[in-house]
Amino acid sequence: MAATRISHLDDTFYKKADAFFTANSKVGLTYDDITLATLYSEILPRNTQLDTTLADGLQLNIPAISSDMDTVTESRMAIAMALNGGLGLIHYNMPEREQLSQVSRVKYHVQGLIQDPIKISPDQFIGDVLKLIEEKKFGFSTFPVVDEKGKLLGLLSGHVVKPRYATKKVIDALTPRKAVHTITKKELGKDPIARADKFFTEHIGIHKLLVVDDDDQMLGLITMSDVERITLERKAQFKPARDAQFRLICGAAVSATRNAFGGLDEKRILEHVSALVERGVDVVAVSTAHGHSKGVGDTVKVLRDAFPKLPIIAGNVTSAAGVEYLADCGANAIKVGQGPGSICTTRIVAGVGIPQMTALYVCSRAAAKKRVSILADGGITKSGDIVKALTLSSAVICGGIFAGCTEAPGEAVEISGKMYKHYRGMGSLAAMKSGSAARYGHEKADTTRKVAAEGIEALKEVSGSVDRVLAQLIGGIQSGMGYLGAKDLEQLRSKARYIRVSPAGQREAAPHDVVELKTGN
Ligand code: XMP
Repeated sequence: MAATRISHLDDTFYKKADAFFTANSKVGLTYDDITLATLYSEILPRNTQLDTTLADGLQLNIPAISSDMDTVTESRMAIAMALNGGLGLIHYNMPEREQLSQVSRVKYHVQGLIQDPIKISPDQFIGDVLKLIEEKKFGFSTFPVVDEKGKLLGLLSGHVVKPRYATKKVIDALTPRKAVHTITKKELGKDPIARADKFFTEHIGIHKLLVVDDDDQMLGLITMSDVERITLERKAQFKPARDAQFRLICGAAVSATRNAFGGLDEKRILEHVSALVERGVDVVAVSTAHGHSKGVGDTVKVLRDAFPKLPIIAGNVTSAAGVEYLADCGANAIKVGQGPGSICTTRIVAGVGIPQMTALYVCSRAAAKKRVSILADGGITKSGDIVKALTLSSAVICGGIFAGCTEAPGEAVEISGKMYKHYRGMGSLAAMKSGSAARYGHEKADTTRKVAAEGIEALKEVSGSVDRVLAQLIGGIQSGMGYLGAKDLEQLRSKARYIRVSPAGQREAAPHDVVELKTGN
């Protein structure tokens, strides 16, 4: 006689999000308070897809964003995040000019076609070129030589850019025009990288290809190293996150700046964001501790009116009303998280904030109605937390996890034989003095008098490169998806079933009753 199936028992214990969070509405739950139930699976972790859409025109290939904090995301971090398929939000604790050039550095990093290569004129001396390389810290020494109208005259090869030739003129040292390999933009066709790749294979020893128009005007330069990098990237499972012009994507944080009378400084905000847009920024984040507020809403409205198509992230909130408000103001993606961060003291200092899984559930339901996405911001310490967060959100924003990486701003310091990097909350006194006071509703000048800091200054153990950290995190996310039989993030969201974990269950979840060996994992 066939055994009667009792798999319906699963439904009694392992609940879908609506049933689970409603049943637990009297308690705020965070990542370690819950666990996900496994499901029948035909999905191998390595075959799972991690792409996510945050807004029209803003798609990531992995659901990870580095936080807009001054010890986490500047251009190096943003480049590393985008090369891995994610996104970096460049912080705003720096002069606006500096933020603009940080965005440019990301947008012009490794291109197929360098549209504005450094050119030199025939009358310069090799010594001038050497000085330029030293001053600008160029990592290359071959330059196209053009006349005053931009017409190509030849190529100054790195072989002759040597101190011994310092007093020689460029015109006497260049490889003449007729010996220089060029291609027209038309000849590059629809897939310039493939065409250039073929060229470099056919021309042994040539590493640079100049792009000209029919009148020999210089249009750009393609280097073999860029082509090789891009060709490799095309084979990787998670491709770099790029814009329509094949540039890396980049986000920047903006604040709800106030004028001397305490009103919103619309003119300054608009000028700042216009300049960011001109530099090619893909998304701006209106970042504050309390997003369900007039200042943030008005800032989002002003930006939405001025830039109808610009993806806007705004936050932070932890309520359905907060999500609805920011969505109505025009935000596309909303940051959820008040006080979960590893360096946050908002819950201790101000007594507010909601544990992250409950906040994500409440916000996700409002977001679905408003057709906006939500981003789980703060409190992530391990890949399992990310899997749980992604059952309710479109991506995670992490600070602490990336703060120990080589690409985070600041130098590593050695303490008792271990290497650390500084990591501080944007609401710490030190960070507010550097400019982030507005994020916490204070004036910068306030920091000289008594202001309650909502973040701490800390150290993070150095954790290697972003590539390495992300490889571990992505491996964990893919494992989680395999256990749930989810081939993509949409399936992860629809299949997830939850159960609460007792304190003993939490202890059981981590290694216990053993002495752990460090084997380089
Ligand atoms: P993790 O846990 O990834 O958190 O280190 C990073 C997130 O924390 C938020 N943040 C703060 N929250 N006081 C706070 O209450 C602070 O000083 C502070 N600084 C950053 C922010 O959302 C970030 O992404």
